[in-house]
Amino acid sequence: MKYNFDTTVERIETSCVKYDLRETIFGKSDVIPMWVADMDFETPDFIREAVIERALHPIYGYTFRDSSYYNHIVNWLDNNHQWKIEKESVVFCPGVVPALNFAVLAFTEPKDKIIVQPPVYFPFFGAVKSHDRELVYNQLLKTDNGYIIDYELLNEQAKDAVMLILCNPHNPVGRAWKIDELEKIAEICLKNNVMVLSDEIHADLVLPGFKHEVFANISPEVASITITTHAPSKTFNLAGLATSSVIITNPDLRKIFKDYVENLHIGMGNIFGMVASNAAYEKGNEWRLQLVDYINDNVDYVDRFITEQLPLVRVFRPEATYMVWLDFSKYGLSDADLKKRMIFEAGLGLNAGTDFGPGGEGCLRMNVACQRKTLEIAMHQFREVFSNNPNVSSL
Ligand SMILES: Cc1ncc(COP(=O)(O)O)c(C=O)c1O
Repeated sequence: MKYNFDTTVERIETSCVKYDLRETIFGKSDVIPMWVADMDFETPDFIREAVIERALHPIYGYTFRDSSYYNHIVNWLDNNHQWKIEKESVVFCPGVVPALNFAVLAFTEPKDKIIVQPPVYFPFFGAVKSHDRELVYNQLLKTDNGYIIDYELLNEQAKDAVMLILCNPHNPVGRAWKIDELEKIAEICLKNNVMVLSDEIHADLVLPGFKHEVFANISPEVASITITTHAPSKTFNLAGLATSSVIITNPDLRKIFKDYVENLHIGMGNIFGMVASNAAYEKGNEWRLQLVDYINDNVDYVDRFITEQLPLVRVFRPEATYMVWLDFSKYGLSDADLKKRMIFEAGLGLNAGTDFGPGGEGCLRMNVACQRKTLEIAMHQFREVFSNNPNVSSL
């Protein structure tokens, strides 16, 4: 391995959400933070060097995204996801969540129905509800083989919906949707005139044995109803630089979206985001592949540890992302008790499953993008509280 993911970095007092907001979020300032989706790994040196080099220039005046920014994204998507697009299709946005909100505002009207597939990344709910649109839950089905899509229900719901927000790959259940699954969604959406907002921020974090399928790449027809979001932020640990892309190959839709963003005057972004994005996409593939291996080893460790030592917990092994979805239903605890035990007894800060909407009951989401030794400590603390105690539900 050329890169070292075992180096611990002190993050406390860096205005870091994951560490510095623990008291606010969990009511306990020393939980091991395994929640918000950023990683405890150093942003790679070639990105830091590029940012530092630009920072050494003594003027931080107005800048624009030159063609290098767009070309790097186009090449990355082609090389890594076999998606060929023109650079004109890429629109800059200062973050994926803002982009989802802008798309909802630009393409839908108040009271319109928008479908989401919970348990799902909760800002999807806000992107719908905070703009007075109606949320429609196409809840994923939990089966013995993992989570699947309820197409029958989707077919019904699509009849009077205007948009589907797809999480591809899916956070938190970790599915890297297969092509036939996406094709069925596409067929339903095309038939019912439902636009698809495909959030592909986790595309680069598909684990060995699985593949990311670009929804818009199914066919030109599907591309014409799709808005895709993508970013280097999850992959390269750059969320603080607020840099993402919205890819819209349909020129009519693109004009609507671009006008919307331009009218808000948020398209300029910051220079460091562009520099970091360029360095990531130009030099980052080897680092990314090693990262994915490290994450996969962490997932293996958690999976093995829990399966052997805490058999009442069901592990949904992710196919993508560094999130592990854990189901504690067999303990018979209320969600409030589950959360309390995890925070105050095990000393771990995980996301409550219920935050991800219907279907999240009895579950927790664990972020495993941390050093292995942190994970080992966390799993031992976890076992202390949740070891296979038949009385745990009555405690
Ligand atoms: C599916 C999904 N979309 C978007 C984001 C966040 O995107 P951004 O930080 O660019 O707003 C996350 C972060 O966890 C995510 O999981």
